[in-house]
Amino acid sequence: MKTIICDNYEELSLQGAKLIAAQLTQKPDSILGLATGSTPVGMYQKMIEMNQKGELDFSAVTSFNLDEYFPITPDNPQSYRYFMEKNLFEHINIRREYTFVPAGNVENVEEECLRYDAAIDAAGGIDLQVLGIGQNGHIGFNEPDDYLYCGTHLTPLTESTINANARFFDSTDEVPKHAVTMGMKSILKARTIILLASGKSKHGAVSALLDDRITTDCPATLLKLHPNAILICDKDAYNG
Ligand code: GLP
Repeated sequence: MKTIICDNYEELSLQGAKLIAAQLTQKPDSILGLATGSTPVGMYQKMIEMNQKGELDFSAVTSFNLDEYFPITPDNPQSYRYFMEKNLFEHINIRREYTFVPAGNVENVEEECLRYDAAIDAAGGIDLQVLGIGQNGHIGFNEPDDYLYCGTHLTPLTESTINANARFFDSTDEVPKHAVTMGMKSILKARTIILLASGKSKHGAVSALLDDRITTDCPATLLKLHPNAILICDKDAYNG
């Protein structure tokens, strides 16, 4: 993996936004894979600023988000759909009907997963996938396990992830125990991948990305198999 080490979160956010801008300059109708979590928020802020200054145009972009809690309704402020609206979509000129997030409120979740993968394929596949990383090395909600899934699927969340994400909820009990997430295949099929990692709490996961080994115990290590994956981290995540 190519690694870019930034002095701080601000620089990481700018580096990420510049890669998105380069992608959209080259292909204005790009298919972007987007992520939630606190890490990409700074990058989204830079993208909003560029869009508002007229430097970055999202009018032809399609986006697919990695994951969504299950069960949850899209208007729930804790949902990832709501997160994307507030942190990006409602501030830029993206066509809302071309922004996709897995549905967290369907009866037939298996059907929803198949539909989501088919929609990504029908759009032509993801050009640039943005990823954060869990403290345990998860990407999307592909949690450490003996086996990982290729396709979009319903997954239980590990205790570590529930605890890490509890800060966004009133209490740990309120964190949904399941999520719908893109699988490893949709992520690895993206033509370019950028993984953002910030802060000392990500040092363990980032360290696992810096040697030559891959393991399903740290799903992000599979990105080492990708020909065009870029790790953008700050010094705290890199050095611990
Ligand atoms: C969640 C998301 C991941 C994200 C992770 C890290 O679990 N499903 O996509 O990478 O959180 O979040 P943060 O950036 O807040 O540390």
